[in-house]
Amino acid sequence: DTAARAAFSRGGIPYGAAVRTDLLDAEFDYRDAIVDHCQLVVGEGGLKWFDLRPSQEQFVFDQPDRLIDFADRHGMQMRGHTLAWYGAMPDWTKSISSAAEAERELVHHITTVVGRYRGRIQSWDVVNEAIAETPIRGAVIRDSIWQERLGARYIEIALRTAADVDPSAQLVVNDYNIENPTSQCRDRRKAMLDLLRSLRDRDVPLHGVGIQGHLPGDMEIDKEGLSRFVEELKGMQLEVLVTELDVIDDKLPASEYERDQIVAQRAGDFLAAIGEAVRPGAILTWGITDRYTWVPMWFKRSDGKPNRPLPLDAGCRPKALMKVI
Ligand code: XIL
Repeated sequence: DTAARAAFSRGGIPYGAAVRTDLLDAEFDYRDAIVDHCQLVVGEGGLKWFDLRPSQEQFVFDQPDRLIDFADRHGMQMRGHTLAWYGAMPDWTKSISSAAEAERELVHHITTVVGRYRGRIQSWDVVNEAIAETPIRGAVIRDSIWQERLGARYIEIALRTAADVDPSAQLVVNDYNIENPTSQCRDRRKAMLDLLRSLRDRDVPLHGVGIQGHLPGDMEIDKEGLSRFVEELKGMQLEVLVTELDVIDDKLPASEYERDQIVAQRAGDFLAAIGEAVRPGAILTWGITDRYTWVPMWFKRSDGKPNRPLPLDAGCRPKALMKVI
């Protein structure tokens, strides 16, 4: 039961999904969907601070340990998500009060976590969502405990620490809202490129950029803007990964058929725009079946119908979206 079924995307790119580790032993059709379709996995949770660090003294590795065993058993690779993020922080981190303490905690965390999976987790979202929601002059990096205590240099600290601990791992910064024709997305692309240039100028180790791809279904993809952005990444020798693809369908028509067509169209446009400029290193969706998706937590439909953001429907049958990946 070792060799995973060769489940590449249409373009021959490794395909994977965010996994709810707790369901792997509970729902066999869910587990089979992951095994049948994925060449790589990432924990939807498990490696977030909130999950790993219930207290300052503790590291709880149960979930990621299980997921990596699962991945190994099925010949899949695993991505790690995530080491420095504003979100999913346990309450005790609010008491981190000085720059020195913040740096100590961040370095300790990354050393412990990356160290535990050295050589086994091939790619890390070291820094997640570092760019401000709406970057404006002087406030380009998003607020977080790390930004408040250390300023933007937390990004450099995180990347350098991860590189020291596992020199073979691919180090990625991951972000969202960069693909639409809005001024917000334009500003965010620019802020990301500025950040990447400043990291490069200081020789900070970084190998890839994750484009999350939580696509708003009611908005066109800015194909040109996205292609140009990705072209810039290529110019900096950074690999592009699609890390969290899904299509937010709260504002789309009620008809399931129509909705699935639009969802597939958006994702197709998005992947085509990226594909114009580069071949992504991986394509991952944020979940695999509509049965389990984060989308309704934030983007519930007002007609009460279930969201359909993912490649498989709630019964794990492939939808139009699967065909464009
Ligand atoms: C979400 C998970 O899907 C939820 O289950 C969790 O409660 C909150 O986080 N961008 C990210 C992911 O980088 O970590 C988020 O995952 C979704 C948005």
